[in-house]
Amino acid sequence: MTIHIGAKPGEIAETVLLPGDPYRAKWAAETFLNDVKLVNEVRGMLGFTGTWKGNPVTIHGSGMGMPSLSIYVNELIKDFGAKTLIRIGSCGGMQDKVALRDVILAMTASSISTPSRAILREVNFAPSADYGLLRAAADAAMVKGTPLHVGGIYSADVFYDERQDLSDQMTRHGILGVEMEAAELYTVAARYGCRALAVLTVSDHLKTGAALPSDQREKSFGDMVEIALEAAFA
Ligand code: HPA
Repeated sequence: MTIHIGAKPGEIAETVLLPGDPYRAKWAAETFLNDVKLVNEVRGMLGFTGTWKGNPVTIHGSGMGMPSLSIYVNELIKDFGAKTLIRIGSCGGMQDKVALRDVILAMTASSISTPSRAILREVNFAPSADYGLLRAAADAAMVKGTPLHVGGIYSADVFYDERQDLSDQMTRHGILGVEMEAAELYTVAARYGCRALAVLTVSDHLKTGAALPSDQREKSFGDMVEIALEAAFA
């Protein structure tokens, strides 16, 4: 038990999937795992442990934004021994070639700052995905026929960002999409020798203003969970 995670020792698996939304964690665990058990509900941040094809898996909410994700990822790794951490979430598309429902595998995650910034001092650390997970997730997406992009994303601190020029520069530099968590996930995982990846579904588009209706989000989200699970145990 930690400050933010009420699980008992041994109740968290070495492989953890991290949706932002705790209710997505519940839906994903009930839909894709067997023998599911609720292992955390501190502050309403739900975590579930079960098995997938016989392999132990935890699906735990991260909350929105890097400060929230950082709390859970630090405790999952340092106190519960998590080794493979895969964010499953949504992002805003930033390139014309990226369409709603496409999946993005974040090879790198740029940011203005992360909660780890202070210990990295003046270094512009380059948060990057685990190559083995990235390659396995790309293979899994191709087998499923999921439209896929692999490349850099931007982890923002502000959802309602009024700095259009900043978005324009990200687009100009080939950034595929924007979300709010991956850069800190990659940085903390690197610090503790863990594997990390962010698998993202494009839920809205910054250039066109298009957005997925909520009833169509579930299917896209399901593809992402399966890609993450296949990658974790490839
Ligand atoms: N901005 C930041 N985070 C997001 C977005 C966005 O447009 N869409 C989904 N997550």
